[in-house]
Amino acid sequence: MLLGPSGCGKTTTIRMINRLIEPSEGRILVEGEDVTRIDPIRLRRRIGYVIQQVGLFPHMTVAENVATVPRLLGWPPVQIQHRVGEMLDLVGLDPGQFMSRYPRQLSGGQRQRVGVGRALAADPPVMLMDEPFGSVDPIIRARLQNEFLAILQRLKKTVILVTHDLDEAIHMADLVAVMRDGRVAQFGTPDQLLARPADPFVADFVGAERALKRLALITAGEACEARTGGTIAVDTPTIAASASLREGLSLLLMSGNEVARVVDADGLEIGVLTLTTIRVRSAIRPT
Ligand SMILES: Nc1ncnc2c1ncn2[C@@H]1O[C@H](COP(=O)(O)OP(=O)(O)OP(=O)(O)O)[C@@H](O)[C@H]1O
Ligand SMILES: [Mg+2]
Repeated sequence: MLLGPSGCGKTTTIRMINRLIEPSEGRILVEGEDVTRIDPIRLRRRIGYVIQQVGLFPHMTVAENVATVPRLLGWPPVQIQHRVGEMLDLVGLDPGQFMSRYPRQLSGGQRQRVGVGRALAADPPVMLMDEPFGSVDPIIRARLQNEFLAILQRLKKTVILVTHDLDEAIHMADLVAVMRDGRVAQFGTPDQLLARPADPFVADFVGAERALKRLALITAGEACEARTGGTIAVDTPTIAASASLREGLSLLLMSGNEVARVVDADGLEIGVLTLTTIRVRSAIRPT
């Protein structure tokens, strides 16, 4: 993910990847090939692109929008039709209901999903997404983020996603490039960014709550320990294994307990989470 404040060069960077802007120096490799050696039209068909503000064609239906690249690639109509249905299902829009609507007849979040479906339609190995979840409310945004992560579990693609939202980057990224004034200020995993900001700019960007945000990267299930000894107080709170240590800490602070029971999806206890464990996990070890 490319992360950074407005105007730092995120959109410019991804537009260089598909050659909407030509790099003045340096090299950009897509699947090992220098992009400046690939015909731009062919290159762009290999790269799905969700532009900032979605950019659906207003005079085309949802189905026609999603079909754009397969049609350019000359797929047979039956295959295109099948693919459109598949893509709409994938992004959680009922094809029967949405296929023949126009973009103006959709909500902002639905338009963004169509944009994602359109970018995925020709199954490109690489996706560029410029603030794809930018214009929706926090609840829909979280849902779209999780749906997209679930889609990626199945599709295994290289995605370069632009955001200025730190929490989105922490939640979704394998690797983050923090940008400032056209330069990469830091490149690393979300945990590296939060644990060791490279400079005062990055430290300021990740903010004073970075210790808590790091706890959001670890689940209670990963951190819990086997319970030693037989009994546990009856008022011991319970937390789902899938919940984060940040939620675990909040629960312990609110309930005034030192220990919580960690349970799996069936409600069976798999271990306990203690304040000590959380403290140990949040400490930054010297390099
Ligand atoms: N065609 C252009 N000609 C000259 N300068 C441009 C052009 N397009 C963008 N810029 C400038 O380049 C800088 C980076 O712009 P860019 O669109 O990459 O920012 P961004 O990081 O995507 O910001 P945002 O989060 O607001 O979308 C900005 O200062 C912008 O004004
Ligand atoms: Mg931009």
